Amino acid sequence: MLSGKTVLIGITGAIAAYKICELIRLFKKNNANVRVVTTPNALNFVTKTTLEALSQNQIYIDQFNIDEYKPEHIALTDEADIFIIAPITANTISKITLGISDNLLTSTYCAFKKPVIIAPCMNTNMWENPAIIENLEILKKRNIKIIEPETGFLACGTEGKGRLANINVIFETAKNILLPKQILKGKKIVITAGGTKENIDAVRYIGNYSSGKMGIALADNAYKLGADVTLISTVDVKKQYKTINVQTAQEMYEAVKHEFNNAHSLIMAAAVSDYRVKNISEHKIKKDGNPLTIELIENPDILKEISKNKKDNQIVIGFCAESQNLIENAKNKIKNKGCDYICANDISKKDIGFSSDYNELYIIDKELNISKIEKTDKQNAALKILEEIYGLCK
Ligand code: CTP
Repeated sequence: MLSGKTVLIGITGAIAAYKICELIRLFKKNNANVRVVTTPNALNFVTKTTLEALSQNQIYIDQFNIDEYKPEHIALTDEADIFIIAPITANTISKITLGISDNLLTSTYCAFKKPVIIAPCMNTNMWENPAIIENLEILKKRNIKIIEPETGFLACGTEGKGRLANINVIFETAKNILLPKQILKGKKIVITAGGTKENIDAVRYIGNYSSGKMGIALADNAYKLGADVTLISTVDVKKQYKTINVQTAQEMYEAVKHEFNNAHSLIMAAAVSDYRVKNISEHKIKKDGNPLTIELIENPDILKEISKNKKDNQIVIGFCAESQNLIENAKNKIKNKGCDYICANDISKKDIGFSSDYNELYIIDKELNISKIEKTDKQNAALKILEEIYGLCK
C-alpha cells in the first residue's frame, strides 16, 4: 500500500518510545521504507538494535557522525515523504517551536518541508502547562498535525491526559496524508498503452518504439486515485487492476469498444499503427532476390471512431506525438479526431517521450486552451495529467 514511500520516524525520550516498535512494524508491513532518527535520551527507553532490526535500516542519532557526502539531517529530509515525531516530549515540542536545532532530530525537523505529524506523550501537569499549550497552538498554525494524547493510566503512576495516542491512529493519520485521495472513485477508466504490432508473416511484424510506459503510468495512477481501471496494452503486465493484452490495432479497437461501453472515460495513450498488412502470409516469407512489396491498408482510427460515437457524459482523451510544429499539429488533431482533450509531446526531444522514463507535455482542450506539464518522470506526469483533466487540482 505504501510502497515507494519513505517514512521518517523521530523518537524522543519518553516511556512510550517502546510503542514505536509497533508503528515501525506497521509501516514495514505496508511496504514503506522506514528511517528512524532518535534523540540520545530515546535510547534509554528502546534499544538501537531493536529499531535497526525492525526498520531494517541504520538508526540516526548523532549529528556529528557524518560519513556520507550530505549532512545526515539534510539527507533524511530529502528522502522522507513524511516526518512523524512520536512520542514527542514537552522539551522537544518547545525546541521545535523555537527552531532550536541542538540534536539530529531537532535539526532534521528544522530542515523538513514536507508534512509533519507529532504525537505528544507526557505527564498531565506538563500537558496542561501554559507554555506547552501555547507552543502546540503555534505548531498547529504552522500546519503541523498534532495527534493528541489519550487519557488513562500514566507511567508516573497517576491518571489523566498524557498517554501516547493509539499506534493505529498515528499510522492511519500518516497513511491518509501519504496516499492520494480517492478522487476517481466510482469512475471506470479505460486506458490503452504500448505500440501495436501488425503481422507481416508467421514471424515478422510492423511495430513502433512505444514502450507503453506512459499508458501504464496513467493506469497505475488512476488506480491509486480510486478509478476502476481497465488497461488495454500491447505490453503484457500483471497488475492489481484489469488488464487486457492485445497485439494489433484491430484487437485493440475491439477491446476498447467493448470496455468503453460502460466506462466514464478513455485515454488513448497507445501508439496505434495507422496501417496493417492486407494479406498476412501464413508462412514465413522467403527471399527470392526480388524486391518485396507489401500492400498496407488503413487501420480504424480508434480515437476518432470512439469520439464520434461516445455518449455526452463520456470523456475521450488522445495523445499525440509530434516531431515538429507540436502545438499546431496537436490543435489540428483535437479538431480532426473530435476528442475532448489531447496530450501532446515532442518526440524530437531525445530525453522525453518514446522509451524514455520522462515526459513533458501540453494538454489541450476542445476550446484550445493549453496547459503545460513540465518535464518530470512518467509516473508524476501521469498523476498531473489525471489531476488536470479531471479538474481536481483547480
Ligand atoms: N490513434 C488511434 N487509432 C489510430 C491511430 C492513432 O486511436 N489508428 C490515436 C492514438 O492512440 C493517439 C492519437 O490517435 O491517442 C494520435 O495518434 P497519432 O499517431 O499522433 O495520430 P495519427 O492519427 O496517427 O496522425 P499522424 O500519424 O498522421 O500524425
